[in-house]
Amino acid sequence: VSDVVVRPMQTDDLEAVSALAGKLLRLHVGFDALRYLNPTEPEKGYARFFGSELQKAEVSLRVAVRGESIVGYTYARAEPRDWNALRDACVWLHDIYVDEGARGAGVATALLGDLRAWSKAQGAPRVMLQTAVQNTAAQRLFAREGFRSTMLEMTMEL
Ligand SMILES: CC(C)(COP(=O)(O)OP(=O)(O)OC[C@H]1O[C@@H](n2cnc3c(N)ncnc32)[C@H](O)[C@@H]1OP(=O)(O)O)[C@@H](O)C(=O)NCCC(=O)NCCS
Repeated sequence: VSDVVVRPMQTDDLEAVSALAGKLLRLHVGFDALRYLNPTEPEKGYARFFGSELQKAEVSLRVAVRGESIVGYTYARAEPRDWNALRDACVWLHDIYVDEGARGAGVATALLGDLRAWSKAQGAPRVMLQTAVQNTAAQRLFAREGFRSTMLEMTMEL
């Protein structure tokens, strides 16, 4: 959408982005309280962690801005070949979140377009991600953008 700008995340953005990351985490705890970790004050941890990732060449931390507000972000990283996961080097999209009030207007589509360009520039052959089985809205978005379903994670409680 024309009024949304995707740009690199900066230190000044950490508080706003961490608030969104906390919502992403709570969404998943709501899907399955046993599978997802549920720390107290995740925002503080996210601010610290993203702050430490910001300057890394293999990391893409991007924000979608509308007017003065950050309405979404992505966190992706170029990952090396992983024999345990049976996958070659790729860009892994770890987080994508768009704030409730900004959804359905193409913000995530803009963020994914930006990620695709960055990933190609990295020379990565593909982008991979995991999405909760309950998260059909996200799966629709990813499928529309060209992702296909590959692995299915399973969890057994003891
Ligand atoms: C999944 C998520 C990222 C989608 O973000 P979004 O900005 O609403 O996505 P888009 O607007 O690009 O696309 C969503 C819908 O809006 C529609 N849309 C896109 N551009 C549009 C536009 N300009 N005008 C109107 N509608 C539009 C799309 O067709 C799409 O329709 P769908 O409901 O059939 O899929 C968002 O819902 C979210 O943050 N959810 C919580 C976090 C989450 O699930 N993250 C993924 C974890 S793996």
